[in-house]
Amino acid sequence: MNTRFGGVSGTGPPSQSASIGYLRVVPDFGDLIDFYRSYGASSFADDEPAYAEVCENLGDHPELVELIAGHDPDAQQPNLLFAAVHYLLLGGLDHPLRHVYDGTSSLPVAPVFADAVLTNRSAIDELMQNERTQTNEVGRSAVVALMLNDAYQRSQEPLSWIDLGASGGLNLNIDRFRIEYTTGERSIATGPANAALTLRCELRNGAPTIPSTHADIAWRVGVDRSPVQVADPSQARWLQACLWPSQPERHARMAAAITIAQAHPQRIIGADAVDGVAQALAEAPADTALVITTTWVWCYLPEATQKAVLKLVRESGRRVRWYSLEGRGVVAELGQPIEREVIDSLVGRVEMGGGMPEVSTVLGLSHPHGAWLDWYAPETL
Ligand SMILES: C[S@@+](CC[C@H](N)C(=O)[O-])C[C@H]1O[C@@H](n2cnc3c(N)ncnc32)[C@H](O)[C@@H]1O
Repeated sequence: MNTRFGGVSGTGPPSQSASIGYLRVVPDFGDLIDFYRSYGASSFADDEPAYAEVCENLGDHPELVELIAGHDPDAQQPNLLFAAVHYLLLGGLDHPLRHVYDGTSSLPVAPVFADAVLTNRSAIDELMQNERTQTNEVGRSAVVALMLNDAYQRSQEPLSWIDLGASGGLNLNIDRFRIEYTTGERSIATGPANAALTLRCELRNGAPTIPSTHADIAWRVGVDRSPVQVADPSQARWLQACLWPSQPERHARMAAAITIAQAHPQRIIGADAVDGVAQALAEAPADTALVITTTWVWCYLPEATQKAVLKLVRESGRRVRWYSLEGRGVVAELGQPIEREVIDSLVGRVEMGGGMPEVSTVLGLSHPHGAWLDWYAPETL
């Protein structure tokens, strides 16, 4: 039974439609339609109006509703349906929706979208059944670079870096990126001048030291329970498909980062957080400063997993700096109140283990994709 919408009857698969004599009992998909409408209004209205319009008008397309309802509750998410369609378009599907998305057609989006789904039913069903949405936001490297610089300057040792929840590991190639931090007219850059990818971050407040070269990373590894193998073109395309169509900048930086990752693959331990961090801590070379980063990962870990990861770190016998870029209040150790309505990310550092007292520091606030940064902690750099 479908439970996503509170177990209301009639949100099950089309096969639950039944015929009693000549009377066909048609399921009532009202809750699913309401869910899409409210999700669209809250998640897409500002930034992806095409998706918002499809959500708003879902009820006008009963066959599309039935197709969605035929999937398991966790596959009924609007983002998964949109990613599945986007994946086909990125793969070359020739459908008018392509022109609606790129603004060269003024056809109303909802019926065109419904047609794209229904004329490619089996491919969409297969994707919705087998895939789940995944993100790997390269823009966050603008903030991670400052975290790594902070660790490097404090320790004066090359770093061993564990990126927990690395996804496709795109940010693990951070020292191949050029990052330009701007304050008004001024711009300060770190990283190679001839980099294939340049990220830009507006420094709104504060003045972190920005060295012209990245921190020295002696060893690095990602940990993820569902790593994306970007060497596989179809997995790389899925990652792109999970971005929204009207975000050309995000698409461009992800495409560049994928190309870099394909040329310079980084290792990702495919394991749940506890086992993966245990393995990484055991492997990290001595005579290096240990750093763990989490960027929009901590909120996905059950509390027991969070505690088990921190226990491992505290008992590792080494001083570890854990840097986080997470929603406000998500990292309890930083002692900030939870503010779920605010999507700014809190940037923090927790120094732990190694027989020394634990020290937590809020370093700043940033845009969730690293577009801007308020740096609170001038004394830390
Ligand atoms: C929102 S993505 C963020 C990815 C990346 N850190 C970034 O900033 O782009 C969250 C990642 O955490 C991973 N993840 C979620 N739960 C996990 C767990 N229990 N153990 C390991 N990885 C996990 C997911 O597979 C996903 O790749």
